[in-house]
Amino acid sequence: MSALHEFDLIFFGATGDLAQRKLLPALYYAFRDNGQPAGWRILGLARRALGRDEYLALLSDNCRQFIPADDLDGTTWDEFCTRIDYMPVDGTDPAGFAALKDWFAQCDGRVRVFYLSTAARLFGPICEGLSRQGLVTPLTRVVLEKPLGHDCPSSEAINAAVGAIFPERQIFRIDHYLGKEPVQNLLALRFGNSIFEPLWNRGSVRDVQITIAEQVGVEGRGEYYDPSGALRDMVQSHMLQLLCILAMEPPTSIDADAVRDEKLKVLRALRPISAANIKEKTVRGQYRAGAVDGKPVAGYLDEAGIPPGSHTETYVAIKAEVDNWRWSGVPFFLRTGKRLPERMAEIVINFRPVPHAILPASPAAGEPNRLIIRLQPDEGVKLFLLVKVPGEGMKVKPVALDLDFAETFHNRQWEAYERLLTEVIHGNLTLFMRRDELAAAWRWVDPILDGWRALDEPPKPYTAGTWGPAAASALILRDGLAWREEG
Ligand code: BG6
Repeated sequence: MSALHEFDLIFFGATGDLAQRKLLPALYYAFRDNGQPAGWRILGLARRALGRDEYLALLSDNCRQFIPADDLDGTTWDEFCTRIDYMPVDGTDPAGFAALKDWFAQCDGRVRVFYLSTAARLFGPICEGLSRQGLVTPLTRVVLEKPLGHDCPSSEAINAAVGAIFPERQIFRIDHYLGKEPVQNLLALRFGNSIFEPLWNRGSVRDVQITIAEQVGVEGRGEYYDPSGALRDMVQSHMLQLLCILAMEPPTSIDADAVRDEKLKVLRALRPISAANIKEKTVRGQYRAGAVDGKPVAGYLDEAGIPPGSHTETYVAIKAEVDNWRWSGVPFFLRTGKRLPERMAEIVINFRPVPHAILPASPAAGEPNRLIIRLQPDEGVKLFLLVKVPGEGMKVKPVALDLDFAETFHNRQWEAYERLLTEVIHGNLTLFMRRDELAAAWRWVDPILDGWRALDEPPKPYTAGTWGPAAASALILRDGLAWREEG
């Protein structure tokens, strides 16, 4: 945040998990690494009747858990805290916002960011309350955390309520995957190198696999998670955004609308999945008790806050298809789940085999050409090429050109939220979802949800610590393929 020395950042939901775990630690790093600028003002708002000192004590306790001890310098932290204020304000009672006016009166005319990390049903009323108090200026930005609704109509209603107060250029819809370094790198890789574009199409790509695997379960978020499930929680947002960046046409520039126009076209080109093809194109799973990392873990139905007999999916695999000139006939396999064996997110692009084989087939040959973009952990890029094994004969095997970001660059890795907050303060919308994008994503997801409802089948059980239900392997096998770790 070096170029911007003055702003006011106001968090609704300041005592909540996201603010304490991600947002304030992200700001601490930015503060520490940018010369501790004097003009930052941070205001936490939440219902709890805390004084400023009590809030700072709570924050210090929590941040200690989320900022490694080596990074937490006492003097810098104390200095950071001098920029933070707290006010008990109830988001459901916008009349209470009058108290904010005095706080702003001290420093008018600065960039002002309202970060709404509350239930989405409050977004509209909060924005209206801010406007009624005259707190929305041309330099004001509002940040909306996911989930924005549970289907297209509810999401549109929230967007309409916020849109009645803020013009679209002042609305920043967060998808934290867009703030991850390797996701940004995907843009650099695709649009900064001429060698990939000729291969980036149906002529050379056989299939694409996107995996976001998590070891964690619902982590005490049952109340949020159970009505949501993996499709809404991960696919509608993070996975579709990854798919868009992978599949979109080269934008004319890196400007927000140039990029978002192209992403929108991908979402609109997604072949619909509905009751008619739901069984063939999707798999839902739910974890049972098992072991992750050698430790026993409970099944989903035994987690806190999960209603008995819940049919919510904690795993989903989908065969998606992009019906356009570039990608016709190329399957995009998506899978994500909780309580899988490892925490891992990656994109795999499998290229077509050579048209005529002159080398002797070798059982070790595997996939000759594969590009793996590793999003987490161990961020990097691997390009597999078939090479000859030294020695007698013509034995070949795929070997990777391996780019490990941590080894190549020794810079501190930015957390996604640090980057996204920086972009909001700078007013750059490229890494945020536009309203029509979000609606298009829901329009693809809603018929899948309807299809599952019509099918009325429980999700397939899988043991915690395994790679999901066997049906997910069958899904990809129907195309004669396998998920990467099994292939
Ligand atoms: C969030 C989901 O958006 O992303 C969580 O609500 C999920 O359920 C999380 O655990 C995963 O994010 P990351 O950055 O840990 O891969």
